[in-house]
Amino acid sequence: MSGAHDGTTDKRVAAVTGAAQGLGAEIAERLALDGFSLVLLDLQEAGLERTKKHIESVVPGIDILTAAVDLSEESAVSASFATIDTHFGRLDALVNTAGGSGTAQVRSLDDVTADVWRKVLDNNLTSAFLCSREAVPLMLRHSYGRIVMFSSAVANGLSGPSGTVGARLPYAASKAAVNGLTKQLAKDLGTTGITVNSVSPGLVLPDEGRVRASFEALSNEAQAATRAAIPLGRTGTGTEIAAAVAYLVSEPAGFTSGCILAVDGAAT
Ligand SMILES: NC(=O)c1ccc[n+]([C@@H]2O[C@H](COP(=O)([O-])OP(=O)(O)OC[C@H]3O[C@@H](n4cnc5c(N)ncnc54)[C@H](O)[C@@H]3O)[C@@H](O)[C@H]2O)c1
Repeated sequence: MSGAHDGTTDKRVAAVTGAAQGLGAEIAERLALDGFSLVLLDLQEAGLERTKKHIESVVPGIDILTAAVDLSEESAVSASFATIDTHFGRLDALVNTAGGSGTAQVRSLDDVTADVWRKVLDNNLTSAFLCSREAVPLMLRHSYGRIVMFSSAVANGLSGPSGTVGARLPYAASKAAVNGLTKQLAKDLGTTGITVNSVSPGLVLPDEGRVRASFEALSNEAQAATRAAIPLGRTGTGTEIAAAVAYLVSEPAGFTSGCILAVDGAAT
């Protein structure tokens, strides 16, 4: 963990997982511009430092704590949230962006090893469960909190070319489970002041990151076919995803809970 000072703060604090690159990095920047102090969590330490430096250049003086951890490891997640408590003394929002379908282009059922299956579920589902379980007690202290999960249009199954999606069977299963996690936790926390929602993107190309790299590696024809298969005729942007998250973590979104918000160009 690295950060600027210890203590408590009057500013709202948001923890963003998967913040080393891609959508998580863009969401973190948007929340910083909206006035949140930040906790950035990810496996990739160098990426976290890149995101932190960039945001500090956009919002000078912002307090940012980083933690390079595997968020599917129970003890590492507990330790990270204990440090958040020591450093900030509060947590207002948790954005569970960490996840993805991996880089292995696993297509047929026979090729899905148990290791790949577990890894994809760990990265997308277990990480969101563990982080939410640690965040809720901090939020309950003030009877206020906003939890945003990350699902995917692929939760409904994906036919035809897989484009940027790696291991799509466990990925679809994990994101469908994220939808269940979202809906059940929203009901369980109903009267607490904590809302739980999910953003469900279609194909979105962040400014940088794994998904943009794999999309750009496709042939021009494959890229055009992928765009044409989206009713709006184009891929989404990180800015559009971050705007959805910014709404769901805002105070006026208090009556929105248990919602799976599709941001997918009408793909589902
Ligand atoms: N980009 C898209 O088109 C798209 C579409 C639908 C859903 N999503 C979802 O949105 C989220 C962000 O996607 P992205 O495009 O930024 O992907 P990305 O692969 O660029 O970034 C995901 C980040 O999560 C981190 N991560 C994964 N497992 C982790 C773990 N166990 N512990 C700590 N960090 C971990 C990775 O290190 C990486 O930095 C993911 O949950 C993804 O499934 C993305």
